[in-house]
Amino acid sequence: MDVKQEVKERYAQVARTGTGCCGERASQAVGYSQQELAAAPQGADLGLGCGNPTAFACLKQGETVLDLGSGPGLDCLLAARAVGPAGYVIGVDMTAEMLERARANAAQVGAANLEFRQGEIENLPVADASVDVVISNCVINLCPDKPRVFREVARVLKPGGRLHLSDIVLNGELPQQLQQSAEAYTACIAGAWQKADYLRAIADAGLSQVEVEREMVPDMVAHQSDPIMQRVAPLLRNPDGSSRILSIQVRALKK
Ligand SMILES: C[S@@+](CC[C@H](N)C(=O)[O-])C[C@H]1O[C@@H](n2cnc3c(N)ncnc32)[C@H](O)[C@@H]1O
Repeated sequence: MDVKQEVKERYAQVARTGTGCCGERASQAVGYSQQELAAAPQGADLGLGCGNPTAFACLKQGETVLDLGSGPGLDCLLAARAVGPAGYVIGVDMTAEMLERARANAAQVGAANLEFRQGEIENLPVADASVDVVISNCVINLCPDKPRVFREVARVLKPGGRLHLSDIVLNGELPQQLQQSAEAYTACIAGAWQKADYLRAIADAGLSQVEVEREMVPDMVAHQSDPIMQRVAPLLRNPDGSSRILSIQVRALKK
């Protein structure tokens, strides 16, 4: 299976139809406040995230922020407000239809301190040592070459810069039928790595103080309107009843 093509097609369809996974209910379950969601334009929240990275990033006025896999742009809009007119936000996504949606959402709220660039996060269209904070929300699990993504993060961060990402990781082996399912891959499950391997890859890329800031079991009730999640959910329990997938919020620093 050409996973990148599958991912592109899946998220192009999500962007075209505006029907992501589960919308506002799912977004509240992963940590967005009602105020954050109410202030966002309709269509910026497609329920595609598995956390709320800007809530952990302590963004300051004037900072430059890069969002990996910016999708419909919700986190970029939150970051743009937090860094103010003296700051700047760059969203990178490989799916043209998502970029179109994100740009329309930014125009709708008149956000002028941000831009969306088309590109792959394994090869970021961003200069070396130019970014204060990298954020990402439920994207790196979709990348086959995760070490390369983390090396790119280390390249673009300024010394002292920080990474705050939300992502899905594994806690136990997935059954074969999920491992080989394109549907489970694009639903942010089959491409996920074991938690320890994922954290080691961040450190191996040269980032330090890698810490899990929050860990939770994804709320499958919030995803019950999604037919893909309905099919997949019964396979996400280990024999001891624990969840085979976890949503983690991770921070790391560039020395
Ligand atoms: C699950 S959605 C998350 C979107 C957004 N971060 C959010 O929370 O709403 C994944 C997004 O990552 C993008 N994406 C996946 N793999 C990518 C890659 N290798 N390079 C750039 N974008 C990628 C997809 O096009 C899609 O917009």
